[in-house]
Amino acid sequence: MSDTATLSPTSLGNAPYDVERVRQDFPILTRLVHKRKGRPGKPLVYLDNGASAQKPRQVIDAMSHLLENDYANVHRGVHFLSQRSTDLYEGTRDKVAAFLNAPSRENIVFTRNATEAFNLLAQSWGRRFLKAGDAVLISWMEHHANIVPWQLLRDQIGIEIKVVPVLDDGSLDMSAYAQLLTDNVKLVSITHASNVLGTVNPAKRIAQLAHAKGIPVAFDGSQAAVHQPVDVQAIDADFYVFTGHKLYGPTGIGVMYGKMEHLNAMPPWQGGGDMISTVSFAHTTYREAPYRFEAGTPAIVEGIGLGAAIDYVTALGMDAIHAHEQRLLAYATGRLSEIDGVRIIGTAPDKAAIISFTMDGIHPHDIGTLLDSRGVAVRVGRHCAEPLMDRFGVGATARASFAAYNTEAEVDALVDAVLATKSFFG
Ligand code: ALA
Repeated sequence: MSDTATLSPTSLGNAPYDVERVRQDFPILTRLVHKRKGRPGKPLVYLDNGASAQKPRQVIDAMSHLLENDYANVHRGVHFLSQRSTDLYEGTRDKVAAFLNAPSRENIVFTRNATEAFNLLAQSWGRRFLKAGDAVLISWMEHHANIVPWQLLRDQIGIEIKVVPVLDDGSLDMSAYAQLLTDNVKLVSITHASNVLGTVNPAKRIAQLAHAKGIPVAFDGSQAAVHQPVDVQAIDADFYVFTGHKLYGPTGIGVMYGKMEHLNAMPPWQGGGDMISTVSFAHTTYREAPYRFEAGTPAIVEGIGLGAAIDYVTALGMDAIHAHEQRLLAYATGRLSEIDGVRIIGTAPDKAAIISFTMDGIHPHDIGTLLDSRGVAVRVGRHCAEPLMDRFGVGATARASFAAYNTEAEVDALVDAVLATKSFFG
């Protein structure tokens, strides 16, 4: 197989969105689950994409092709394979820059995942620019990844954490947000889309209001970047974070976009190989951004897999993926809303294709188990967003989250499984 064939994405051209064609790219989707002797198994209905998306053949092939043909360590070798791996790995930086419409490849810092990106932000930018009494403004709908790094920093240097409330429909309370932008707020760090509610926050407006007070803004794009096009320059994000494995790429690779004025002013946060310029026992100098934030051998295979994933979604078109998922969201919301006793948590007007729900008298773990027995995979629990669960007065929810390859028939399977669960407990 040639490199071009391995790395080139599926293209639907200008054809209408053909979900069956998309499904053919994902080998796992033909799997039968719970197959045992004498039992044929159930077709997989994978609706746990918010936790991690499945991988298309193009990503799997790019990674195995690298390992079979081009693998060596990057940034270090003069030999052929090292240069080949470096070119492919660094090629992903260009692809991520284009994907986010970043001004340059230097705006893109590779991390292990979104969580590590927030820890980098807190430990590098936060320690350099925040002092005791300064505040970071987050929201009630944050994933723990955008809460706990700030709590660690609070314990280290005495910052304050302020929290924007969430309205009953799951929208961010924008008037409270405007009021909370007080003089001691030095950073806003808010999710672009909630992993529980699906709410898509008005990122551009959030940035405008903060910037009017000279406050930079970081966005958690872990969910938004997989469901819709993202333009960091149009939003005017100071930082924008996402993770590869929810974007049909591998685990172990994430991204922090930063404006150069910030990245150039930030100190390293982890030391070691790859991030240095010179080292002596007396004194070490560091490379320029983004490399000074990338200590040690990076996730080479995974980085190249992320590049293939970006090629893949770019060929499908993020607009087309968004439109397809919005159709599924509307259909699933309508059908689930008709079921007596089902409560959807998060009904904001602008939502990504994520539906959290509870069922009267049935614990979400029981919902998850009974759905799974019919092949329907959803996430149940607190979704790494415990304060949000408390806000809505629920111990946990079940969550169906949709991707480019899901179908209306799978929504029907979800609804049938919910109805069967209701009857079982009826
Ligand atoms: N953050 C992932 C989720 O929301 C794991 O499920």
